[in-house]
Amino acid sequence: MLKILNIVGARPNFMKIAPIVREMKRRSDEFLPLIVHTGQHYDAAMSDSFFEDLGIPKPDYHLEIGSASHAVQTAKIMMAFELVILQEKPDWVLVVGDVNSTIACALVCSKLGVKVAHVEAGLRSGDMTMPEEVNRLLTDRISDLLLTPSTDGDENLLKEGITPGKIKFVGNVMIDSLFYSLKLAENSNVREDLSLIGKDYAVLTLHRPSNVDEKETFAELLDALVEVSEKLPVIFPAHPRTKSNIEKFGFAEILQTSNIKLIEPLGYLDFLRLYSGAKLVLTDSGGLQEETTALGIPCLTLRENTERPITIEMGTNILVGTNRAKITQAAFDVLSRKQTQDTKIPPLWDGKTAERICDALL
Ligand code: UD1
Repeated sequence: MLKILNIVGARPNFMKIAPIVREMKRRSDEFLPLIVHTGQHYDAAMSDSFFEDLGIPKPDYHLEIGSASHAVQTAKIMMAFELVILQEKPDWVLVVGDVNSTIACALVCSKLGVKVAHVEAGLRSGDMTMPEEVNRLLTDRISDLLLTPSTDGDENLLKEGITPGKIKFVGNVMIDSLFYSLKLAENSNVREDLSLIGKDYAVLTLHRPSNVDEKETFAELLDALVEVSEKLPVIFPAHPRTKSNIEKFGFAEILQTSNIKLIEPLGYLDFLRLYSGAKLVLTDSGGLQEETTALGIPCLTLRENTERPITIEMGTNILVGTNRAKITQAAFDVLSRKQTQDTKIPPLWDGKTAERICDALL
């Protein structure tokens, strides 16, 4: 029986851990899964609602770290998590993604000689100014088992000199949650509540510091998005960081007078129901590039690079950066397409990745 500590901290972790814990519980003769929530995200809309929507059991440990500078947040998680490790003495710690909780917990394990498995290993944007890129690189370097979502991940790891025996291509576990939840999401009334029935609309998410922390960049993005919204309404569930910067930079009025509808962050099922009916998604999120690929929805990524190149190869995702003309041109091109584009789903994005992760751990 393997005792596994499964780490979650921030919003994009929850949909990755849910299918893994479900599978471990199903195989209870082989696995004893415990959940540790670092508390990096703590708002009901950023955390609790995901536990409910995804059926994740209550965490066994809640470290309640909350928001702080990167150094303070990472250090506090390390200090609190070390005590959990010493108490539980797990066989493996499983970390997902690329947030500060991921590197913090992996680093504690490597110092204590506890084995770490990294789910979503090998993704690289090549942009070291991105906090997540540093988290990914370092987590992969110190992990014992590197579980990749696509084969570009394997190639990146091999190029970096990682021992081939540590790498296992298992597919994309976010897609397990997506396929599991599609039917459940049909019960959501979000489209009715936003008066979108029978209408074309776009969905927008923005939260990267490089897009929303500098007034000029954010202003140029908003100009482009207002122009897109003249063609079809844009629904914008905003991350807390983004919302507070909209206030700080005085952008609230631009939004109020536009066809962009700013709303609170949505839970997993409501958000799935919303974007799965969209004509177009505009985002700087990592996960949403993948979810739109799996569902064949056109996505414009408002960044200069992506650690998920397979979403571009498969035909749904276009990197448009932050230049106004480039964004509006790409959006209008997508909206003028007569037929939906032929898209492909990447290998092993099949809803069975959690099973392969469990097999690899055994
Ligand atoms: C984190 C991840 C990012 C991920 C994002 C998804 C890192 C380095 N970044 O960024 O990769 O894409 O989560 O959302 O780990 N806040 C709240 N309530 C919350 C959480 C945050 O109000 O529940 C606000 C706080 O003002 C906080 C700010 O958001 O200071 C940033 O939160 P933080 O966890 O530091 O990073 P994110 O930008 O959310």
